[in-house]
Amino acid sequence: MSEAFKSLVACFALAIVAQSAAADPQHGKDIAKRWCANCHVVESGQSNAIDHAPPFGQIARTPDFDRTKLAFLLLRPHPNMPSLSLDRTEISNLADYISSLK
Ligand code: HEC
Repeated sequence: MSEAFKSLVACFALAIVAQSAAADPQHGKDIAKRWCANCHVVESGQSNAIDHAPPFGQIARTPDFDRTKLAFLLLRPHPNMPSLSLDRTEISNLADYISSLK
């Protein structure tokens, strides 16, 4: 990946984190249920999810979890995860929702 692209991604992720003042975890939960619940357990009590996708509660409790990292991850989804076209507000809200599961 080029350096220019990396810094572009970094700026974008920082902009997302800076937006946290307008955070709406409830909206994040709705997004999670719509886009992530096929594979991840997005709230406790959910039974259908695929085995190798970590539940969101577990992601939130990993010692080095933070919103910035999550935002980066969602901008460049890893293999196995479909690339989702979420906008900044959606990513920010999702990150807040996942953080709230700690
Ligand atoms: C088609 C199934 C699928 C969907 C839909 C999906 N994921 Fe994932 N996700 C996975 C799998 C599988 C892994 C574990 C991948 C791995 O370890 O390589 C994963 C891992 C993750 C991780 C942890 C990655 C890490 O490196 O620690 C996060 C965070 C995550 N997903 C967030 C989300 C969010 C947020 C959504 C909804 C917007 C979502 N995923 C939708 C399959 C999915």
